[in-house]
Amino acid sequence: MGNKLALHKHGFQASRLVMGCMGLGGGWTREAITADDMKKAHAAVDAALSVSINMFDHANIYAYGKAESAFGQVLKERPELRDQMIIQSKCGIRMEEGPGLPARYDFSEEHIISSVDGILERLGLESIDILLLHRPDPLMEPEVVASAFDKIKKQGKVKSFGVSNMSPTQIRWLQSCLDEPLIVNQLELNLAKLDWIDAGISVNQKAGTQLSFPEGLLEFCQMEHIQVQSWGPLSKGLFSGKDLTDKPETVRKTAELVRQLAEQKGASLEAIVLAWLMRHPSGIQPVLGTTSPDRIRACAEATGIVISREEWYDLYVTSRGVKVP
Ligand SMILES: NC(=O)c1ccc[n+]([C@@H]2O[C@H](COP(=O)([O-])OP(=O)(O)OC[C@H]3O[C@@H](n4cnc5c(N)ncnc54)[C@H](OP(=O)(O)O)[C@@H]3O)[C@@H](O)[C@H]2O)c1
Repeated sequence: MGNKLALHKHGFQASRLVMGCMGLGGGWTREAITADDMKKAHAAVDAALSVSINMFDHANIYAYGKAESAFGQVLKERPELRDQMIIQSKCGIRMEEGPGLPARYDFSEEHIISSVDGILERLGLESIDILLLHRPDPLMEPEVVASAFDKIKKQGKVKSFGVSNMSPTQIRWLQSCLDEPLIVNQLELNLAKLDWIDAGISVNQKAGTQLSFPEGLLEFCQMEHIQVQSWGPLSKGLFSGKDLTDKPETVRKTAELVRQLAEQKGASLEAIVLAWLMRHPSGIQPVLGTTSPDRIRACAEATGIVISREEWYDLYVTSRGVKVP
C-alpha cells in the first residue's frame, strides 16, 4: 500500500495530521501578543498533543513572526514539550518591508541563513527539524540554495529540508545541486480546489488544457519519497459547518453529502473531509489550520475513518459538479 508517510522513511516518526500554526499569536496585525493569545496558543498545542498530533508547521512570516514567537513562549514555559514534537518552518517569502521593497520571494544565501536565525530566535530553539522553501522564487539559483542549506546543516540548525508549492521540474532542478534529499512538498490540496485530481484524469481531454496543476506532481513525490502535505485541508470549513449562504449549489450539495457520511459513520464533519483527502494513495499529511481545541479534536477522528472508493468518487464528483469523463 502506498498510503504510508514518506517522512517515516526519512527517520521522522510524524503523526498523520500536522498542526498548522499560522493562526497562533493573534493573527496578521502588528499588535503585540496578548495574554489571551498565549492562552489560546497553549490550548491549541495541548489539544493537538492530546490527540497524538506531534508535528507542527510554521513559517517565519505567519502573523508577522508572532505565530513562532507565541509557540516559542509556550515552549519556554513548558520546555519538556519540545522532545515530543517535530517542528517545521518555512522561509523565502518577504512581506513589504518599506518604500521600494515590494512583497517578493528571496532564495538568496543571506536571506535563507538570516531567516533561519530569526526562526530559531522566535522559537527559542537551537535547531528545528525541517525547513521548507515557502514558494518558488523565479530568481532561484540552486547552487546558492545548496550553499545556504550546507552551512545551516553543518551548524546543526536544521536537520532536513523540503519545499512548498513546487513543481516536479523545480524540485528536480534544486535537488540536482543538493547533497541532502528534499523530503517534503506542501501544496494546496482539498475538496474545494480539485485541480490536483482533475489534472490526472484529464490527460488527453480538452478540459486538461485549462488546468494549472503541474503534471505528475503527486506521482513524482511518491516515487521520490517526498512527503506530500496539504495546506488548506478544511477549505476554511466550507464543508464542515461554515455558513453557506451565497455559496454555489455544488458546495451546498457536497456539504450535505459530507453531513450524511458523518452521520452514517458516527464521525465529525471535519473527519470526513480529511479522511477523503487521506484516502488518496500519495499519503497526504493534512496541515490543519484550526486553532480551536474542539475542532482539532474533531479533525483527529479522521485517522479512524475509512472512505470507500465509491464514497471517495461521490464526494469528488459532487464537488466537481461534473461527471468524470
Ligand atoms: N505552504 C503554504 O503556502 C501555506 C499556505 C497557507 C497555509 N499553510 C499552512 O497550512 C495551515 C492550514 O491552512 P489554512 O488555515 O488555509 O487551512 P484550513 O484548515 O483549511 O482552514 C483553517 C481556518 O478555517 C477556519 N475554520 C475551520 N472550520 C471552520 C468552520 N466550520 N467555520 C468557520 N471557520 C472554520 C479556522 O478557524 P478556527 O481556528 O476558528 O477553527 C481557520 O481559520 C496553516 O496553519 C499553515 O500552517 C501553508
